[in-house]
Amino acid sequence: MGNKNLVLIGFMGSGKSSVAGKLGECLKREVMSSDQWIIDQEQSSIGDIFKNKGEPYFRQLEKKAITAISQRNGVIVDCGGGVVLNQENIDLLKKNGVLIYLAATAEFLYTQIKKSKDRPLLNVDDPLREIRRLLEQRNEKYEQADITIDTTDQSIDWITQEVLKRIQ
Ligand code: S3P
Repeated sequence: MGNKNLVLIGFMGSGKSSVAGKLGECLKREVMSSDQWIIDQEQSSIGDIFKNKGEPYFRQLEKKAITAISQRNGVIVDCGGGVVLNQENIDLLKKNGVLIYLAATAEFLYTQIKKSKDRPLLNVDDPLREIRRLLEQRNEKYEQADITIDTTDQSIDWITQEVLKRIQ
């Protein structure tokens, strides 16, 4: 990887944050998260930002987060699932980073997301259907990654090892 950033992209629930943490430990690299950058900047939770200021405002902040983070080199980047919606974010991250797409089926993502809160986009009557819809919309974006790993039914340790193998 040299001094490039390792950039994890993929849908909510694909394990990006956990894998980023493990990679940080294994490679002794700093981990940066676009969501965390936004939370620190706004002193507010993702859920509250969506509720009080709306998604377009959140996406603006996300763009700022990616602009700031992509100034760095040699870090692990944990991207919010929607970072890829803005092509400029992808282009920026690609300049000095290897993009790794943690792919999974909608059904598997759903089982993972059910365990957690603060996913405002999935606060809907039929979250599985919404996951399918968003995945369909985003797939061509995620597929611009340099490396794709199918993480369906895999553990965080397996995914981490697979990333380490594939970046060699
Ligand atoms: C989003 C994903 C979330 C967070 C926000 C929007 C998305 O991050 O940025 O809720 O649009 O997919 P995670 O992928 O880390 O859950």
